[in-house]
Amino acid sequence: MTEPQNRIILTGIKPTGTPHIGNYLGAIEPALRRADEYSEAFFFIADYHALNSVQDGETMKELTRNVAATWLAAGLDPSKIHFYRQSDVPEIFELETILNNFVPKGWMNKMHGYKAAIDKNRAAGKLDDFEVNMGLYNYPILMTSDIIIFNATHVPVGRDQTQHVEIARDIAQRFNNQFNDAVFILPEHVIADGIAELPGLDGRKMSKSYNNTIPLYAGREVWEQAVRKIVTDSIEHTHETIRETVLFKLYSTLVTEDQANDMASQLVEKTIGWKQAKDLLLEAVESRFSDQARKYNELLQNPDHIDTVLAEGAAKVRPIAQAQLAHVKQVLGI
Ligand code: TRP
Repeated sequence: MTEPQNRIILTGIKPTGTPHIGNYLGAIEPALRRADEYSEAFFFIADYHALNSVQDGETMKELTRNVAATWLAAGLDPSKIHFYRQSDVPEIFELETILNNFVPKGWMNKMHGYKAAIDKNRAAGKLDDFEVNMGLYNYPILMTSDIIIFNATHVPVGRDQTQHVEIARDIAQRFNNQFNDAVFILPEHVIADGIAELPGLDGRKMSKSYNNTIPLYAGREVWEQAVRKIVTDSIEHTHETIRETVLFKLYSTLVTEDQANDMASQLVEKTIGWKQAKDLLLEAVESRFSDQARKYNELLQNPDHIDTVLAEGAAKVRPIAQAQLAHVKQVLGI
């Protein structure tokens, strides 16, 4: 275990789409809440992780600002938390190039992102590596570099990313062992309690790729459209089964335990139906996110300000990355 005073939290978010409440509840909000418990916090926009799919510059710029505005609207204070854009810290990529030489290719073959791409291709009758670029293949090594260049000890991620934090640990350990030098701290992942995976409107995991999200900073109209689409059923529910429904799961992450219990009882006793339950959920979404949505839209009115905040963030972390890289090179004798 690392000493409490050396606890460093770090997490990245890919600018691949407009953030949804699953991103917020599963990653952003818990990370912000936890940041205070750590001696240092690094939160960044993983734009080069997005580059294997987002290859239009204007789109990337826009998505990057959206994500930055999201974190700032959510309450991130850049004077307390290192907040930067990955591509502004080139040391990360230099370290990745070094790490590439210490990672067995077989480890990457087992990574779920790559495997999912292969499965998809096979299902479509295509060659395994059809449209798989090296950015996707090396994704976990870049993520490792993000983490270990700052000696992060704790990495909050969604459940789908835990494998990547495990591999970061393995890579760091392998390097340390080979050179018999504790260059890197071994990171561990942190899962946000209970909301590691929020269901989407159709009951599958809430994800941009399933198009089943509740957008984070929309307005009533968009929120309402999403909420009305939530799948419901006509089963006779018990107090246990009601808790497994998509609507209840979403509602219970936004309200107090008492409010959630109330909804469960009312649905089971049929004093309300799904329509009213959806009204309650919509109300909960509005009361939780309206103020932030306003702040978010204000921030986006002034993109230069967002760019400045990120540039200042990068300027503050680069010396830390440079020191780590210097240590690595010294160990390598380069
Ligand atoms: N791969 C993460 C995701 O898709 C984003 C990410 C990039 C990240 N680098 C990271 C998360 C480093 C934690 C630490 O969500």
